[in-house]
Amino acid sequence: MSQQTPGTTATQAPQGDAFENLSQENRRFAPSAEFAANAVVTAADYAEADADRPAFWAKQARELLSWSKDFTQALDWSNPPFAKWFVGGEVNAAYNALDRHVEAGNGDRVAIYFEGEPGDTRTYTYAQLTEEVKKAANAFESLGVAKGDRVAVYLPMIPEAVITLLACARIGAIHSVVFGGFSAEALRSRIDDAEAKLVVTADGTYRRGKPSALKPAVDEALAHDGHTVQNVVVVKRNGQDVDWHEGRDHWWADTVGAASAEHTAVGHDSEHPLFILYTSGTTGKPKGILHTTGGYLTQGAYTHKAVFDLHPETDVYWCTADVGWITGHSYVAYAPLINGATQVMYEGTPDSPHQGRWWEIVEKYKVSILYTAPTAIRTFMKWGKEIPAKSDLSSIRVLGSVGEPINPEAWMWYREVIGADSGRTAIPAPIVDTWWQTETGAQMIAPLPGVTATKPGSAQVPLPGIAVDVVDELGESVPNGSGGYLVIREPWPAMLRGIWGDPERFKETYWSRFETMYFAGDGAKKDEDGDIWLLGRVDDVMNVSGHRLSTAEIESALVSHPAVAEAAVVGAADETTGQAVVAFVILRGDAVDTGDAIVQELRNHVGKEIGPIAKPKTILVVPELPKTRSGKIMRRLLKDVAEGREVGDATTLADNTVMAQIAHSLKK
Ligand code: WTA
Repeated sequence: MSQQTPGTTATQAPQGDAFENLSQENRRFAPSAEFAANAVVTAADYAEADADRPAFWAKQARELLSWSKDFTQALDWSNPPFAKWFVGGEVNAAYNALDRHVEAGNGDRVAIYFEGEPGDTRTYTYAQLTEEVKKAANAFESLGVAKGDRVAVYLPMIPEAVITLLACARIGAIHSVVFGGFSAEALRSRIDDAEAKLVVTADGTYRRGKPSALKPAVDEALAHDGHTVQNVVVVKRNGQDVDWHEGRDHWWADTVGAASAEHTAVGHDSEHPLFILYTSGTTGKPKGILHTTGGYLTQGAYTHKAVFDLHPETDVYWCTADVGWITGHSYVAYAPLINGATQVMYEGTPDSPHQGRWWEIVEKYKVSILYTAPTAIRTFMKWGKEIPAKSDLSSIRVLGSVGEPINPEAWMWYREVIGADSGRTAIPAPIVDTWWQTETGAQMIAPLPGVTATKPGSAQVPLPGIAVDVVDELGESVPNGSGGYLVIREPWPAMLRGIWGDPERFKETYWSRFETMYFAGDGAKKDEDGDIWLLGRVDDVMNVSGHRLSTAEIESALVSHPAVAEAAVVGAADETTGQAVVAFVILRGDAVDTGDAIVQELRNHVGKEIGPIAKPKTILVVPELPKTRSGKIMRRLLKDVAEGREVGDATTLADNTVMAQIAHSLKK
């Protein structure tokens, strides 16, 4: 735990040390001449976008999407920070992802190769997927779902997840996906906040060879009076017994399966809400990030094509993200289908039934573009390169990374072990490290694989049409060689349009730190070439295995346990997961410190309140917490303890013996 991964160390203002290591990185990997010559996007896009940013995006919107009504204005920024993109236009996301490919004669192209964890497979062509989505749209409408209604989705990584999202988009219902790893309580609060009318779920899924349930969490989430849910549609996936609520619950096969396959898609306003996705912020309550239609689809489709050099007729694309996260929305459910790509979807874990599962999938489907997270790459590094070496990976020609900073060691391993055998180019597959957020909706900083000479560990350059900068405390752009805060200077098409039900919080969270700029919450540095290096969050948001977790949310879960008086949570550097959750708790006077038993109980309690992904790796019972005279917990000092470092400057503590008391209690 004490080993520091560059770029994952900062939750306060970015520190110099991590960057010192990074700035020694001077390896460069230019694209091969062959790759560059065949690339779908060239450097000309940068110049074109610089010349007129809204015009560049308007061109992309018209080229990449079929509008049922053309727009009259690319961008309306008359009421910042509330942007309107492609004003007056009408577009249907599902029509663009499905019907139009069939109409263009590509109905027989494979849209999804599904690989279930137990080894079952299903293939959907564009024609078949279109039919399924039309049936689902009819079924949801027959259950009373109309344009603007919210639909909560609590599904595993199975094709029905994509079908559900597109069916909602087709009828203009707003989906709100809740990751299957969240608890019943987390699901309940999200269903209530969005006032969902319908829930789509499954009996369960498979995890490491065993059935794993989902439906009981839905039942528990709906056990209280006054919720807004009228119907629950249940996909039969693992065949486990489920409790059944007559009148409310409906099997997918009986509703969607029995519905008509005729459904005409109508255009929705470009600014019609497409979905809500809850994400962790700096407070205890998750924020419902709101995305709308035209801009979101345009930037998703453009970046998916440009950053992965997508050739839809020949490529097989695989994004390993779960549909419960933004990556699974933008780069599984929407952009690949808008672009007419063929993609792989895998239900399970990388080590089931053995640690070579992913590489067998790559070989089996001849995956050419792989998009995954650094935490997975570091796990594979730990397992050893002999495992991927057993499979033929020569189909791979582009490798993507997302979710957290990728340290140069992991980057080089990815290149040399996964990308070196690239059959289609003489040199290893280019790596594209993509920085973006739930809020940005689509990729913002990334190399272009046929243009940029890549650097291990750096996301490098803003994409064409995106205005990113690194600024100091006062909002002044920093010179090359310096660090500061990552900001976005101009509105972008896929930007969040707000926080569900809370416009003030939207302004305050993102637009108040630097008034006219979007503050991302990340620290970053510009190197001598002006390339951007991400240094991790500068706020109280943690990043564990690429999952966003809030310190405040876990703290409030801990103090809701009767034995806990106070809690402080920090993200400590972790070799594999980037950061790990470490909690410091003070027990109530009457609670007995039962050692391991209380720690186990508290971990389970957090699992119940938020979900297994939020369980602290370590819980330390301490007599006091370090606080300033104004009562603010000094997390920086706790982070030093958690990372096994000598404790830093503690002179502003109200009680300067606290750190010694903590050290003493941990020695016991
Ligand atoms: C972090 C995931 C470094 C960052 C798409 C951001 C990254 C947060 C990268 C958003 C990257 C994402 N390099 N850091 N390539 N990609 N991050 O909303 O701290 O789940 O603010 O979106 O992940 O996480 P989110």
